[in-house]
Amino acid sequence: MSAVETLLRADLRGFAGYASAAGRGFEPRIRLDANESPWANADAGKGLRCYPEPQPDALLEALARLYGVATDQVLACRGSDEGIDLLLRAACSPGAGAVVVAPPVFGMYAVCARLHGAQVVDVPLRDDDLGFAPDLDAMTRAARDACARLVFLCSPGNPTGDVVAPEAVAALAERLRGEALVVVDEAYAEFAAAPSSIGQLERCPNLVVLRTLSKAHALAGARIGCVLAAPALVAALRRCQAPYPLPVPSVAAALRALTPGALARTRRRAARLAQARERLARQLAARPGVRRVYPSQGNFLLLRLADAQGVLDRLRALGIAVRDVRTMPQLGDALRVTVGTPAQNAALLAALDGEGGA
Ligand SMILES: Cc1ncc(COP(=O)(O)O)c(C=O)c1O
Repeated sequence: MSAVETLLRADLRGFAGYASAAGRGFEPRIRLDANESPWANADAGKGLRCYPEPQPDALLEALARLYGVATDQVLACRGSDEGIDLLLRAACSPGAGAVVVAPPVFGMYAVCARLHGAQVVDVPLRDDDLGFAPDLDAMTRAARDACARLVFLCSPGNPTGDVVAPEAVAALAERLRGEALVVVDEAYAEFAAAPSSIGQLERCPNLVVLRTLSKAHALAGARIGCVLAAPALVAALRRCQAPYPLPVPSVAAALRALTPGALARTRRRAARLAQARERLARQLAARPGVRRVYPSQGNFLLLRLADAQGVLDRLRALGIAVRDVRTMPQLGDALRVTVGTPAQNAALLAALDGEGGA
């Protein structure tokens, strides 16, 4: 057993997962082993009659190329949301175990933990003049005290926009080697100037990086994300995954989005969006009633407002949705705004200025 497997559930050692027909080991001429329909459904479209490949080679190769890792370090999943859930299920026995999170942060780490009966240990982000940042020493202590199997970092942080340096991530993973998996969720990494922690994977066997095609690649509807980790961990997560997690049309869309031309367009769009974010941050900060705009490396901005409810009401009346994050710890006066197209950003600013409606 590899060192990283000792961090997974002891009761799943030797667990093989579901043996689907896809494991038949040869390309059949006639498929009578998966109870599929003998007829295609012409009304629904082509290529849907049979179950999909669980982990299509072409997708794994394209994701591995994109992120600069080997194919056996990639688990493709139904959005990075599924990756979070798989990590919980593989690392914590139901009703036991603990995870460390640093709120205010993306809610799915705690939701998956709660659904699985794992304890959620909060180590709040620190908020100072430079913005929010995780307290990595306190997270280490909390992980040890709770014997946590998973420590979640979000970089860039949602909704706070801060980034954690890869060297700091690696130092945390080193400290917790043999004790916990350190998971860095990089859903918004394409919008950040800071480097990814993917480069630390070789050095840190207990490090896991989550990536997604939902944000910069504009494929939220396709539900394709991935877990990047040590091959033994990827194999263990695969055993916890549903038999056929990736719908055929989603895989086809992802492959089209991962061609060199499409990737070049994505990179240009992400760079433009990062510039628009900086412009919008300055414009918002100049508005009366906007108390603080946090520096952000994501495709969103976190604002503190004198009257967040009033702003929400006004925007809503104009059909503009922004995220109310006031129930999150430390954010009682805050809203999160996604950076949109130039026209959408202009509409937001006009609405804040009291224009654009009755
Ligand atoms: C930090 C973070 N991680 C993961 C996700 C989920 O992404 P996906 O669409 O890949 O499931 C989100 C979605 O908003 C997010 O903000």
